[in-house]
Amino acid sequence: MLKAKIAVLVSGGGTNLQALIDAQGTVLKNGEIAAVISNNPGAFALKRAENAGIKTYVVKSGVPDFEDRLSQIIEENGIDLIILAGFMSILSADFTKNYPERIINVHPSLIPSFCGKGFYGLRVHEAALQYGVKVTGATVHFVNEVPDGGRIIAQKAVNIRKNDTPETLQRRVMEQAEWKLLPKAAEAVAKSIVRSRKNG
Ligand code: GAR
Repeated sequence: MLKAKIAVLVSGGGTNLQALIDAQGTVLKNGEIAAVISNNPGAFALKRAENAGIKTYVVKSGVPDFEDRLSQIIEENGIDLIILAGFMSILSADFTKNYPERIINVHPSLIPSFCGKGFYGLRVHEAALQYGVKVTGATVHFVNEVPDGGRIIAQKAVNIRKNDTPETLQRRVMEQAEWKLLPKAAEAVAKSIVRSRKNG
């Protein structure tokens, strides 16, 4: 069986990338990570990819041909599915329209709360604590031209504790939600890609 080829886009620590790497062959059966692309040359995620023997690329955001370069790498590697795993740059409508239902993202809140432009990383958890919500969580969704606005694939709730700081909450949302949800959602999408190929 030909697996769906996955490119994972990262910017930082890469714990979600690690969850995907660890899920290969178990939870993630219909997809294989063929490339990891970082917009940050210092991202620890790149080390994780190298340790797993996965091809890595650095494409700095902010340069005019940033998205052209991304598309080129995706093309070169025959990528079927793009996973944003802690990728801190917003992709343009011109880019996302080329990959309908072929880009997924993990976001550390229950969308539509605490999402969209300006809500990323620790900021999401700071906002949730400031608002005083009692339940937060994580969402995996398809990526379209609206930041955090594409169709939701999966969500998992996480309770907020009285003494939570943004850091403790971020860690618990990752452990209890993101690291489980993302590999499962990746498998569901990869499976549908493999299936549609067979039928097509
Ligand atoms: C994760 O919590 C991810 O959901 C979030 O950044 C963190 C990256 O951690 N992503 C966003 O906020 C995107 N809007 P990681 O690099 O260890 O996977």
